Amino acid sequence: MKNIIFLLIVSSLFIQCKQEIKQPKEKQFGLIADSAMVVSARIEASNIGVAIMEQGGNAFDATIATSLALVVTYPFAGNIGGGGFMVYRLNDGNTGALDYREKAPIAATRDMYLDAEGKVIEGKSTLGAMAVGVPGTVAGLFEIHRKFGTIPFEKLIQPAIDLAEKGVVVTEKQAKRLARYRTFFKEANNRKIFLDTVWQAGDTIKYMALAETLKRIRDQGRDDFYKGATADIMVDYIKQLGGIITKEDLAKYESKWRDPISFSYDGNKIISMSPPSSGGICIAQILKSIESYNIEQYKHNSTEYIQLITEAERRAYADRAHFLGDPDFVDIPVDSLIGESYLTSRMANFNWNKATASSSILHGTINVYESNETTHYSIIDKFGNAVSVTTTLNGAYGSKVYVEKGGFFLNNEMDDLSVKPGVPNMFGLIGAEANAIAPEKRMLSSMTPTIVEKNGKLKMVLGSPGGSTIITSVMQNILNVLEYDMTMQESVSKPRFHHQWLPDDIKFEPLFDTLTFAPLRKLGYKIDQSNSPVIGKVDAILVLPDGKLEGGADPRGDDKAAGF
Ligand code: DON
Repeated sequence: MKNIIFLLIVSSLFIQCKQEIKQPKEKQFGLIADSAMVVSARIEASNIGVAIMEQGGNAFDATIATSLALVVTYPFAGNIGGGGFMVYRLNDGNTGALDYREKAPIAATRDMYLDAEGKVIEGKSTLGAMAVGVPGTVAGLFEIHRKFGTIPFEKLIQPAIDLAEKGVVVTEKQAKRLARYRTFFKEANNRKIFLDTVWQAGDTIKYMALAETLKRIRDQGRDDFYKGATADIMVDYIKQLGGIITKEDLAKYESKWRDPISFSYDGNKIISMSPPSSGGICIAQILKSIESYNIEQYKHNSTEYIQLITEAERRAYADRAHFLGDPDFVDIPVDSLIGESYLTSRMANFNWNKATASSSILHGTINVYESNETTHYSIIDKFGNAVSVTTTLNGAYGSKVYVEKGGFFLNNEMDDLSVKPGVPNMFGLIGAEANAIAPEKRMLSSMTPTIVEKNGKLKMVLGSPGGSTIITSVMQNILNVLEYDMTMQESVSKPRFHHQWLPDDIKFEPLFDTLTFAPLRKLGYKIDQSNSPVIGKVDAILVLPDGKLEGGADPRGDDKAAGF
């Protein structure tokens, strides 16, 4: 009898177990919307973009409203004093890209960050007025409006003005960030709003000077920022702090339409940002390098998966350092770099039994980078247009220079130029001749606003902050969805890893399963889990088979999806 009972228990357990194995784990979806969605770093900004689309606006109108709302709600990276890139796909399948990246001032010189002995002056390219590049965001937003806008600009900027006057509630994460950067604010001579008060979570910050600037932009248009009162305020302040940007720099600034980088991966079409961003070329190199390996045979985030991707990343970032820069200044062999034969030859010395040493590809030694001081938002409208925007001040609160009278931060994008060949920037990235400093040159970027298309239909819109880790974060999310069938929310929530050629180690987020580490070490890979509390912060939208939209809002931040 006992035996029979035991057998019954065992067999019922077995059946249960089999059922569990058979039943796929329930999928975790993010917010689902019928026809329109915004996913951004703050719910207030997502809501504002959605409200514009509810009023009949398209994804471009929503882009402008969301972007301006982020200036108020997310001063960490949302900006008018920085720059960015937009990749779009219209409902008829046409694609394009806008470059509103910052530029080096006319007075910039190759050695401007070096002392008399040729050594890099610490902090000069990252903190204070000398670090500032000529801002592009305002020009970019007006250009987007000129080409695609359907709602008057005044109406798109008004919600940001209202929000600045009403005030924005400080989140816990924001309070921590403001506390972390206090000493830098002081050094950059930024006294009032972020220094006089120690902001706590739950407090409301009103941005009255910013509201006035936004009103001037509303009333005078683009010219206020580049030639008018705001230009005067900005240039006076920069001059006072020892910077070199002039009114001529501002007056000459133009955003530029570029052809995006488009390539196929496993039957999908990927559309991403072209130079001066390295994003599109690097992501194409990495994905094309691994395409023939039939990725799904490897368990997600397994040793083999990490190994293969790391080797592709290593080679792509080595190329980035050598070949890429502002396309208006350097010739970039784009087709060759993302061509199949070249990439096959690059991967030819990949060995499953041993890590390739980065020093055997090229040499260099570095310290480290981290964090998410850029911001990305993804938008789809009810007409089927898609917009993918990544915008930044570069470092957290940029140069920390806060134009007091104007109420906004200025970028420290000059650090993305190569301050000295072979010397890493704040993300540990090495640059060479192609990215050397020159007057009016755009600095090389890693921002990777991306759109994925399958069978001629829109499938995914995504992007991330994270400096050099942007490219690999976006790439992993593409694989999560295309190869591992994750929902958008599952995908953005998954732990990530990153390799960038130099330093020659793989960075892992703390939540990453450490079981993979021992076998990787045995193969000769160096593991670094110490400096990467988070890698990227991906905000994305997936078009589901029934046409509905699923938002993936990265839980690493306060990011949220909104839609209808
Ligand atoms: O353009 C770039 O690649 C950098 N300025 C982006 C900076 C960034 O993502 C900051 N976040 N970590």
